Amino acid sequence: MTETLYTNITQLVTARPGPQRGAAMRDLQVIPDAALLVRDGVIAWVGERTAAPTAARTHDLGGVAVVPGLTDPHTHAVWAGDRLADFEARISGVPYEEMLARGGGIRSTMRATAAASVEDLIALARPRLQALRASGVTTAEVKSGYGLDFGAERRMLAAVRALQPEFGLVPTLLIHVPPTEARAEYVQGVCEDLIPQVAREGLAGAVDVFCEKEAFTVAETRRIFTAARAHGLHLKLHADQFQTLGGTELACELGALSVDHLEASGAAQVAALAASDTVATVLPGVTLHLGLPAAPGRALIDAGALLAVGTDLNPGSSPLFSAQLALALAVRLNGLTPAEALTAGTVNAAHALGLTDRGALAPGQRADFLALHSADWRDLTYTLGGNPVRDVFTGGTPA
Ligand code: NIG
Ligand code: FE
Repeated sequence: MTETLYTNITQLVTARPGPQRGAAMRDLQVIPDAALLVRDGVIAWVGERTAAPTAARTHDLGGVAVVPGLTDPHTHAVWAGDRLADFEARISGVPYEEMLARGGGIRSTMRATAAASVEDLIALARPRLQALRASGVTTAEVKSGYGLDFGAERRMLAAVRALQPEFGLVPTLLIHVPPTEARAEYVQGVCEDLIPQVAREGLAGAVDVFCEKEAFTVAETRRIFTAARAHGLHLKLHADQFQTLGGTELACELGALSVDHLEASGAAQVAALAASDTVATVLPGVTLHLGLPAAPGRALIDAGALLAVGTDLNPGSSPLFSAQLALALAVRLNGLTPAEALTAGTVNAAHALGLTDRGALAPGQRADFLALHSADWRDLTYTLGGNPVRDVFTGGTPA
């Protein structure tokens, strides 16, 4: 048994364990002059230092605030090539969707990724995941989706599997954009070949679909989701990024873990999410980088939805390598309070991945936590550009 008591914590600040909706997202537990006992990688006790149990070992954190490790519930951290020319073109006025319709954008990343080996993909993804880790991420979801052909999709998932032990990754199979020809056959192959293989080999725990005008229709999404469910996989969805096609309503109806993006969502989508257990995941990096409207974070929380925040780290719509900055942007762009942002980046983000064993500093939870540079936790969402995270601990060990 290994046991460490962490002391000299000015404030220990955490959401309550489990998913939180509405006003409960603001109900943080704040313990001044706190201590934290970790036993075998799991939190055994939290409370005021004066009431702390004795432990075999103590670790003085030096008088700073402690918060839970962050979960990034939406990344595309594995890709090859770059979108630097796309970025310049977009800044000069070419819309993102038009680039995709012309065979560029996501499709250019697909060509580069399909040409890369698993070893190349691992080497390219590692520094991106290190950047996320430094920003406070202790668990990250990583999607496939730049493969198109099934061999390349499997290579992407193999790269995620190889990096999993180092970074605490959760892999998702993303069915991203259809081929330009033989579309119906492609969807059939996804349902009858790719999803069964991925489920059998445990390569991903969930299936995500990009439901949008330039990608998959609601009917195709329903078909893919039906196959995913039949093979015991969770559902996630990219929806309402540019248009509201009905994907959000479908995902809520089928009990998806989350619907992500929501920049174009209106009152009907907010109501559907609020009435469901599906997490609404907002991605403020996309709002900043593409100049899209902000997803209605404030309205979602006020309506009682479960809300999470992700980076959407990817080369085209969100080159955002910091989950801390994603939370800071959600406060500015999506109307969250700092307390709501902390909840959105911890327990709710974990719930968006179907994980209940992490995200809160409470007995029984994984000992994933952050020591900040500051004595006041509010620096976490205040800081822009600097990194307020000093130390990252995963399972009670410095990462
Ligand atoms: O989540 N919008 C669809 N997919 C990604 C972007 C992928 C890309 O542009 O390379 C997203 O924004
Ligand atoms: Fe995405």
